[in-house]
Amino acid sequence: MKEKLTFLGIETSCDETAASVVREKSDGTGEILSNIVSSQIKEHKEFGGVVPELAARAHVEKIEFIIKKALEESNLHLNNINGISATAGPGLIVCLTVGLNAGKAIAGSLGKPFVAVNHLEGHALSPKINSNIKFPYLLLLISGGHTQFLEVIGVNNYKRLGTTIDDALGEAFDKTAKILGIEFPGGPKIEEWAKKGDENYFKLPKPIFKKGGCNLSFAGLKTAVLRTSKELKNQKEKYHLAASFQKTINEILYEKTKVAMEEFLKNKKNIQKTFVIAGGVASNLRIRENLAKLAKEKNFTSVFPPKNLCSDNAAMIAWAGIERYKINLVNNLDFPSKARWPLDASAPFLKGPGLKL
Ligand code: KG4
Ligand code: ZN
Repeated sequence: MKEKLTFLGIETSCDETAASVVREKSDGTGEILSNIVSSQIKEHKEFGGVVPELAARAHVEKIEFIIKKALEESNLHLNNINGISATAGPGLIVCLTVGLNAGKAIAGSLGKPFVAVNHLEGHALSPKINSNIKFPYLLLLISGGHTQFLEVIGVNNYKRLGTTIDDALGEAFDKTAKILGIEFPGGPKIEEWAKKGDENYFKLPKPIFKKGGCNLSFAGLKTAVLRTSKELKNQKEKYHLAASFQKTINEILYEKTKVAMEEFLKNKKNIQKTFVIAGGVASNLRIRENLAKLAKEKNFTSVFPPKNLCSDNAAMIAWAGIERYKINLVNNLDFPSKARWPLDASAPFLKGPGLKL
């Protein structure tokens, strides 16, 4: 029987220092032998966002310990690992370099294969760790830095169907949280507050709701939240604003995902219709419920990774390493870190003020 691959994955693209060991299973899914994530929330709290230099310093301090811990928990030695993968982009160069160099050093010193992973591909393939889904599938990636609809055609093969033209969805949650006086990162707290409020209390705008295909925009919504926040009289009204914001987001996602599903199905016959969400915001239970309902209506099977695989982690990087290695996508040790690295290089850059859709 062919040996099942085991990879060590390393992730330091933003404010999580993470390492993980993942092994292939015979049914095509993966077994997570360890998944260590050290978050830097404390380091960045007082600044209301991630400070690149502080993040890089924290990665340097923690990386060796985190990798050792991941190996220890997996009960494996480096000799039992078939290859090493590390996130090479997109992200903060000063942060990426820390994990990338650690991965290269281990691979180089042991003479093991090295795979440079695109963080977004990590998110995109993460549902395959727990679920035996087939390509192609429709992915909604919603994180702190990215918001995109992608057709996942295969490993290393993506077609972007839509993207945000301004803020990422996680950014919209975090900015709304900041306006309401919630500490960074505020997404999870907005979800909590929303449960205590009346979601129909404030009417907020839905930018490019009925135009622009499945492209998205959140900047106008954020401005409306800021304006509304100036008139709030008490805590209860803050809960109402959090709830109204989350409801508006859900209406936007529902409509845009419907359009993305239509786009995805164009020129396809007899395929399994699979819809996947990934990225930190995909932890939000109301968003999950909302999109699961839509998927059911449109006869898509929805596959949502567990919360610990939605937010940034290294298991998804180890897994992407395995998937890439299996089709011979290995890299040299001079592979650079990349601040920008789109999954679909042919898609136009659509971010910036003054864009008309
Ligand atoms: O994927 P991720 O961990 O990091 C990036 O690659 O960006 O996503 C982090 C983002 C943050 O903006 C955070 O506020 C948001 O995900 N987030 C949430 C929830 N949990 C995390 N947003 C809304 N509801 C949540 N429950
Ligand atoms: Zn991410």
